[in-house]
Amino acid sequence: MHARAIAATTTALLGTAALLTPTSHARTDDVSGQPEIIAHRGASAYAPENTLPAIDKAAGLGFTWVENDVQRTKDGELVVIHDDSLARTTNVEDVFPGRTPWKVRDFTAAEIARLDAGSWFGRAYAGTRVPTLKQYMRRVEHNHEKLLLEIKNPELYPGIERQTLKLLSNEGWLDHRHRGRLIVQSFSADSLRIVHDLRPGLTTGFLGKPSVGSLHRYAGFADLINPSYTSLSAGYVATVHRFDGPHGRPMGVFAWTVDDAATARTVARYGVAGLITNKPDVVRAALNGS
Ligand code: G3P
Ligand code: CA
Repeated sequence: MHARAIAATTTALLGTAALLTPTSHARTDDVSGQPEIIAHRGASAYAPENTLPAIDKAAGLGFTWVENDVQRTKDGELVVIHDDSLARTTNVEDVFPGRTPWKVRDFTAAEIARLDAGSWFGRAYAGTRVPTLKQYMRRVEHNHEKLLLEIKNPELYPGIERQTLKLLSNEGWLDHRHRGRLIVQSFSADSLRIVHDLRPGLTTGFLGKPSVGSLHRYAGFADLINPSYTSLSAGYVATVHRFDGPHGRPMGVFAWTVDDAATARTVARYGVAGLITNKPDVVRAALNGS
């Protein structure tokens, strides 16, 4: 077998552990051959997404990888929230009724800190706040978790890549003690390229499914290709594995958002290195055969 084909096959069999060597930021300790399980927006089926309770819940269920979404307030604070509007996941419409369409970038950090980001999900979470990225990183650290950080809507926030990396650096997340605990991803290839250029050692993931003909370009700045599972096939995963990423190892695939057992088993068989899910316990049970 050709050396590249052997490497690709090994990657498929060993998942992230083979994809990422000890010098990589995304090295993991998992040698089970199963994909990593990443709690999407935290364990967001069981606690309000992108909040501290959601990552506490993931930790409580025994999961180490969590995913989040980072955006920026009017006065330049990085905050963790998915939508570009505060309306769906907070009570902003009640607190600031005249401020439609309630865009994150139109509110100060102090204003956002007043919002309830938990009641929409359940009464037990009333009073939960939209975390700043700084608060969030400290809780990830406290929980001994690992982070798949998404830079969300970067076109709305010029310079968010440098600012995010600065915060991560200030919090110690770019030092050797955090090796293997951080991946930065984005739907924006431009944004990801900026991250790679600013911090070449960092592990990165492109969200989407580039054409096979363009994969060689993504290999210049992305270690991972992270498509929706609905668009994925075993053939595409194998093709991704044939390209070496920016750190000289075959690119891998993290698939999202896989929430049922049958899909988890099917997509795992494609040879993905990670499964991103709102229900990590369901995926774990599926992969363990229960
Ligand atoms: O991590 C994958 C997933 O988060 C991408 O989609 O919309 O949930 O941020 P979205
Ligand atoms: Ca996301």
